[in-house]
Amino acid sequence: MNREYEQITNDILNNEKFKSLKEEVHHHNSNRYNHCLEVSKKTYKICKKLNLDYRSATRAALVHDFFFTDEFKNKKQQLLKHPKQALKNANQIMSLNEKEQNIIEAHMYPIGKKLPKYKESIVVDIVDDIVSIKEKIGGDFEYLKVATNFLFIIFVELLIK
Ligand SMILES: [Fe+2]
Ligand SMILES: [Fe+2]
Repeated sequence: MNREYEQITNDILNNEKFKSLKEEVHHHNSNRYNHCLEVSKKTYKICKKLNLDYRSATRAALVHDFFFTDEFKNKKQQLLKHPKQALKNANQIMSLNEKEQNIIEAHMYPIGKKLPKYKESIVVDIVDDIVSIKEKIGGDFEYLKVATNFLFIIFVELLIK
């Protein structure tokens, strides 16, 4: 793991409650810990390249799905309310700035109603989608390429506005 990435995320990765996300099944083929880690590592690379606030983006991306299935009554409630719950759980283990809070709360936009207010929020929203598609369709790379390009076009459109 990259040294700088490690320094940025060290306290979160060593937290016991966060580590227990390894027991949570995510998108059938993954666990929630690995999902968060992958979204965070990709966010780190992209935000660093784009000269964005990669520290806030990387940390928020790591806890964007910091929730547990038994915190919800059903799948629908989980889908709609998990960003708020992730923020609540993250607040228990770290202090979050305004941008980090928005990144977590808005990562389900446009399914969720919370608007992404920062470029870093848009990056995490899109990286999360790409990683999720990859986890869901596994090795079907042709579909993955189409989906990734589609999300990339939206991303570029939003950035140049
Ligand atoms: Fe999520
Ligand atoms: Fe996610």
